[in-house]
Amino acid sequence: MGTYQIYLENIKKTYKDPKELVVFENLCLKIIESEIVAIIGPSGSGKTTLLNLIGVIDNPDEGTIEILGKDIRNLNENEKANFRNENIGFIFQMPHLVNELTIFENVLIPSLIKYKFLNGNVKKRAIELLEYMELAQKKDNFPFEISGGERRRVEIARALMNSPKIIIADEPTANLDPNLKFSIMDLIYKIRKDFKTTIIFSTHDYEILKYADKIYKIENRKLKLISEEN
Ligand SMILES: Nc1ncnc2c1ncn2[C@@H]1O[C@H](COP(=O)(O)OP(=O)(O)O)[C@@H](O)[C@H]1O
Ligand SMILES: [Mg+2]
Repeated sequence: MGTYQIYLENIKKTYKDPKELVVFENLCLKIIESEIVAIIGPSGSGKTTLLNLIGVIDNPDEGTIEILGKDIRNLNENEKANFRNENIGFIFQMPHLVNELTIFENVLIPSLIKYKFLNGNVKKRAIELLEYMELAQKKDNFPFEISGGERRRVEIARALMNSPKIIIADEPTANLDPNLKFSIMDLIYKIRKDFKTTIIFSTHDYEILKYADKIYKIENRKLKLISEEN
């Protein structure tokens, strides 16, 4: 669907275990380039499930999903993994950095997966991203030697490593104190401006919704547009 970066149509998603649970039915969502979209809804409403569908981590039972114009139903698991690694950056609720690797090495991981080896360009990009995150001086430190806010920034640098068109952030500010919360959201906002990335984040924190161009709420197994800028 040419103009949309993210296109979901009539999605049905059920979990079978422990008993059948219909999370979405006839869910539609269309997101254009460089949009920042927030998904809200109470705990258990399906925010993570939706982000996993968009992130090509999980499959719907029914419906169409096209990400960057690609119909992901036609991809096998290996192709999905490559598609994800090259096109989508993930920011999680709890940063999971590899403790045995330095900050610099952590940021390099997506490129290592993509190219199987590290060339000078890749290392240069990692350094540039660490500079962008104001973390260049910490590049040889280990994750346990830096602060929680710095770890988040390392994770965001890593998410940007392969220049993804889309960033998916599942409750990126959960468990953060207010200062850190706004600094992380400021950073996400700046990334959209500087890299033209499409960003979709989930939250139940109404204070960060001001960063979104559009806000959708999960309600009755569907998405409802509740606010749109302009
Ligand atoms: N892998 C799974 N298997 C079975 N049920 C699941 C699975 N993941 C989530 N669920 C259920 O689906 C519903 C939506 O979950 P989730 O997408 O994690 O919601 P949210 O992120 O909004 O808290 C919840 O009832 C949850 O218990
Ligand atoms: Mg969740």
